[in-house]
Amino acid sequence: MSTIVYIGGQKGGTTKTTTSHLMCLGAILKKHPAAYVLTDPHRRIKSDGRPYGVLDGRDSAALAQIITASHNMGNGWLVVDGGGNRPAFDQAMAEQAQLTVVPFRASEEDLESVARDMESMPHAVALPSAWSTNKLAQESAQRLIDGLDKAFPGRVIKTPVWFVNSTAELLGATLENPSTAVRNAARHTFAILKAAFDGQNGPNRQETTRVEDKSAV
Ligand SMILES: Nc1ncnc2c1ncn2[C@@H]1O[C@H](COP(=O)(O)OP(=O)(O)O)[C@@H](O)[C@H]1O
Ligand SMILES: [Mg+2]
Repeated sequence: MSTIVYIGGQKGGTTKTTTSHLMCLGAILKKHPAAYVLTDPHRRIKSDGRPYGVLDGRDSAALAQIITASHNMGNGWLVVDGGGNRPAFDQAMAEQAQLTVVPFRASEEDLESVARDMESMPHAVALPSAWSTNKLAQESAQRLIDGLDKAFPGRVIKTPVWFVNSTAELLGATLENPSTAVRNAARHTFAILKAAFDGQNGPNRQETTRVEDKSAV
């Protein structure tokens, strides 16, 4: 059975699509099979030159079929890209996925939105993304991670996906030859999300990460 990872959240521009592609590319570079699933009806599918599968899940029947088929596939990663602004879809996908990730950038707006998503998807984890590599900016951004972690203990990934200028390559028409920076970001993203999955499902799994903790909100 392959592992379904849902990258969701209601706000646009939080890096859902980029993170989904980074995860797939990272998996492939680590020799794990991976496929990207498009679900946003307003987006087109671009599979040219990609070393991972690209599946069209924009139609709900097609998406259901992809998910059913993934139960019979070998080990690998099925990364489902949300699309924003579809709370009911987010919740339904979060129930199907073995790991739900809500990326957020270092802004108050993203923080408010990710907090709402964390409440409506009690198993989701938050991922700081497109995070500044500048020391000063990082220090102030760290307050956002710490504040969110206080509200949702154990549900915030502590290692961010760093800001990489060339990630725009991932959303281009083809991906024949990803740059070193993108490949490194992809390996890093895969490692972080795989660790989050292992943390929720491995032998040392912490119950707190799977249990809704309303008292802390
Ligand atoms: N790690 C990153 N570093 C730098 N820019 C990023 C990163 N991830 C995403 N971006 C940029 O942020 C913007 C929004 O990303 P996108 O993946 O389209 O978000 P969403 O799918 O949530 O709307 C895009 O311009 C994208 O290139
Ligand atoms: Mg998107």
